[in-house]
Amino acid sequence: MNQFVIKGGTPLSGSVDIGGAKNAALGLVAAAIMTDDDVILDNLPDVNDINVMLDAIEGIGARVERIDRHAVRINGSTIGAYSVDYDYIKKIRASYYLLGALLGKYKKAEVALPGGCAIGARPIDLHLKGFRALGAMVDTKYGLVSAEAERLTGGHIYMDKVSVGATINILMTAALAEGKTIIENAAKEPHVVDVANFLNSMGANIRGAGTDVIRIVGVDRLHGTEYSVIPDQIEAGTFMCAAAATHGDITVKNIIPKHMEAISAKLLEVGCRIAEYDDAIRVKASGCEFSHTQVTTLPYPGFPTDMQPQMTVVLGLASGTSTVTESIFENRFKYVDELRRMGGQVQVESNIAIITGVECYTGARVSAPDLRAGAALVVAGLAAPEGITIVDDIHYILRGYETFDAKLRGLGADIRMAESERDIRKFVLQVS
Ligand code: EPZ
Repeated sequence: MNQFVIKGGTPLSGSVDIGGAKNAALGLVAAAIMTDDDVILDNLPDVNDINVMLDAIEGIGARVERIDRHAVRINGSTIGAYSVDYDYIKKIRASYYLLGALLGKYKKAEVALPGGCAIGARPIDLHLKGFRALGAMVDTKYGLVSAEAERLTGGHIYMDKVSVGATINILMTAALAEGKTIIENAAKEPHVVDVANFLNSMGANIRGAGTDVIRIVGVDRLHGTEYSVIPDQIEAGTFMCAAAATHGDITVKNIIPKHMEAISAKLLEVGCRIAEYDDAIRVKASGCEFSHTQVTTLPYPGFPTDMQPQMTVVLGLASGTSTVTESIFENRFKYVDELRRMGGQVQVESNIAIITGVECYTGARVSAPDLRAGAALVVAGLAAPEGITIVDDIHYILRGYETFDAKLRGLGADIRMAESERDIRKFVLQVS
């Protein structure tokens, strides 16, 4: 298994191009099978989660043709199976989007039931509640969720909790249900809006995405389209935190600054200088002293849970005591023990991390417990002027960050991907 090996202490500087949003692309790839025409998706990130999703749709018979590294042509007319097996679900939970897509198009679908995961229990009751409200019979047994309907009809759905996945899944099914569907207390994340815009570009009639209430008038069929995935808010935010933690100066390019507001606001509060352009943000932290603050994760437009570990790493270098409250997932502080091994002073009480700032981190061998926490440990390693950081289990990071190490090297970081203990020793010798 590969590792990232990092010699930290260099303030990162320069500019970095942000790729397409992984979490939007997962929804778009699933939704692309809802027409029998060709769909061309561009700006797809070349990351493991997306490649598994493409395999999953090929697995049920869709044609997938790579146009180039970031573009694919998908054709769902050859789909012959409505069942997605556990192999895909265990690799990426988001393959449950195929439930909404297949149910909308073929009125039947079967997907292995996802279990909990590293960041906590992740029920799908709200997805199922939505399908039922659209007239589907939903059953969960033998480890499978099956949904079937003779007719899908619009319904009025109140989401008891704001859920990105359930909103997207229900959107897809409702796009092809008869009549009008209203989703109240819908998720407003940029990727929810992206899936709605994509479906509209295929002929769907969805209004209100990005607000609490989404209204969908079902159409008979969807047609082909060409569509470009929105930029990745979380990849951009991770580089912004890397600029902060290393007291560097980075411009993240090809982004939508509006999507970054919660993150920019917190970095500004901490003491970074932020400049916003049309499609870029510059974070300048050279010479800045950081001060403590409070962060609470919330659904969009609140501070994203997917940025919680990276922000904690920045706050770990701020003077005084900061707190980070995780309000979305119950088990998203697993990385704190690893950060402590790097000199971080963080205590977790219930869903709150209490962080006492230290002057700097020190390199250590740590392991990535999940995708975002893994990226945060890399950021901590980049901010550690002494010692070498070795991050194990980087397969989590590679699920969601394309050429993470190469992009960081482009900003002056000393980071390598090692394929063996021998590689690690070689790198350590080179830099020490
Ligand atoms: C999406 O997960 C993202 N994944 C996650 O990104 C992200 O952390 C999360 O939204 C929150 O922003 C994708 O988009 C593929 P939710 P999702 O449904 O849709 C509860 C990353 O690192 N809930 O919005 O699964 C749930 O337990 C990942 O890229 C129910 O109770 O999240 C949680 O507490 C990790 N019942 C809250 O809602 C349900 O039926 C929000 O979850 C569904 C969710």
